[in-house]
Amino acid sequence: MSGKLASSYASWAELQKIYDHQHSKLVLKDLFAQDPERFKKFSKEYTSSTNPETTILLDYSKNLITEPILAKLLDLAREAGVEEWRDKMFAGEHINNSEGRAVLHVALRAFGEINTTEEGVSQVGSVLAHIKEFTEAVRSGQWKGYTGKSIDTIVNIGIGGSDLGPVMVTEALKPYSKRDLKAKFVSNVDGTHIAEVLRECNPETTLFIIASKTFTTQETITNAETARSWFLDTAKDKAHVAKHFVALSTNTKAVTAFGISEQNMFQFWDWVGGRYSLWSAIGLSIALVIGYENFEALLKGAHGMDMHFREAPLERNLPVLLAVIGIWYNDFYGSQTHALLPYDQYLNKFADYFQQGDMESNGKSVTKNGERVNYQTGPIIWGASGTNGQHSFYQLVHQGTKLIPADFIAPATTHNPINHSKHHRILLSNFFAQPEALAFGKTEEEVRAELGSGAAEEVVKSKVFEGNRPTNSIMFPLLTPEVLGALIALYEHKIFTQGVIWGINSFDQMGVELGKVLAKKILAQLEKPEDVQGHDSSTTGLIHYYQKWRKE
Ligand code: F6P
Repeated sequence: MSGKLASSYASWAELQKIYDHQHSKLVLKDLFAQDPERFKKFSKEYTSSTNPETTILLDYSKNLITEPILAKLLDLAREAGVEEWRDKMFAGEHINNSEGRAVLHVALRAFGEINTTEEGVSQVGSVLAHIKEFTEAVRSGQWKGYTGKSIDTIVNIGIGGSDLGPVMVTEALKPYSKRDLKAKFVSNVDGTHIAEVLRECNPETTLFIIASKTFTTQETITNAETARSWFLDTAKDKAHVAKHFVALSTNTKAVTAFGISEQNMFQFWDWVGGRYSLWSAIGLSIALVIGYENFEALLKGAHGMDMHFREAPLERNLPVLLAVIGIWYNDFYGSQTHALLPYDQYLNKFADYFQQGDMESNGKSVTKNGERVNYQTGPIIWGASGTNGQHSFYQLVHQGTKLIPADFIAPATTHNPINHSKHHRILLSNFFAQPEALAFGKTEEEVRAELGSGAAEEVVKSKVFEGNRPTNSIMFPLLTPEVLGALIALYEHKIFTQGVIWGINSFDQMGVELGKVLAKKILAQLEKPEDVQGHDSSTTGLIHYYQKWRKE
């Protein structure tokens, strides 16, 4: 994050040389055959210092690396100053240079252990106390709606980081949820989203949580206004809004202008990036769903991983290992994407979440100094939960022409041991089998032996798996709030480490602004064809088509 070009480091040039001379010789089958200790050497475990059941195993042995290659990749991390920049982040230095801000989401889960004078950090505890008090009142039924009934439905209205974290975590921690409190999420400005959600809500028993860091995001404010009108259609009196609308924001002025009192506002600060905000007041819907104790456990889990990232030597530092291995494929092998493949239905939103987490952070092409990079930065993140993905896109991962590094993620134990955990054993056998198949494949000889001598040549060829496709495997005992916290923080710090090496600012998102500005301009021109000015012929043609066919 120094802003230096990654390609200017000596270790980068050395890695390029290693790649040029060795990559064709890096064959997983051979690497495993040559070294029976490979798993032992290339796997590490993180265990929380306060809870032995909060532990994460990272097996990175099925990667196209050797000990010298990994050592060189770690040299690159050192040369780029990962340790120094990490310490600057934890110290509250303003490492988000384009916006002149600190990056302190780690302070939201540190329970006072972060030492910085940054404004707001000392108030983290009181916001948590507010969340605790409020969630307990709602969950116990003590908080009443305007007709005296308790709340049975919460609707979080937010988008991007003000939606994806709560969506992913409430889904992941469903086993800990209060089943009779329905949680719904509205993000899209497409009226269909809110219309369908409101169909299932009762104004007397619904609580709307307006989640927006800036409180100016067009989608969120439009949806919030629609929700308020829908509510007032029945409740009539504006005074009732106080019982049914709360806000999560950094912008007190805009919140009160909307009609939500400061008392019903949960504060956070500009040093919390949108995609790192689930630990802040943005997590209110999470706390309502799983209870405050579990929300706190989630924060503690993340804090444990923060301490590991801060203290563990790079050789044993899980986020750093994931980061440098990712760089090996992204920048030297030229792979364009990275797949996240959780074998846990509760984690089915994990890849969606880290699409924003990773791509909004590291989707940059200039360094912090404004210099154009001459290498690849953030990969395309995608994925889906196993085993579903196996029946859609895995074909390409196994036999397609692209190299797709992937993380396989699974719990040893399920929350739903139905049928004596038969389902889980089948799930996990797939979780173990896929990385094995990807790494070792199936040779032509094996196919021939299987098919017998009369097999058609093209059939033989079609059944060959080249293998040598790299994966990480990540396991933990059970998906608890603490484990999930640690897992999310693991990926956050991986993203940070990669950003530092690439010399980019992982904490702004200028690239989403232009589209927003143009949309505002176009919105003002949609009424009359003669208003459509200043666009290319394609955009003008499309708007005219809309104007011809719209009904209302
Ligand atoms: O898409 C850009 C972005 O600023 C994200 O970074 C953010 O998570 C999202 O919009 C929502 O912003 P806000 O919480 O301010 O409504």
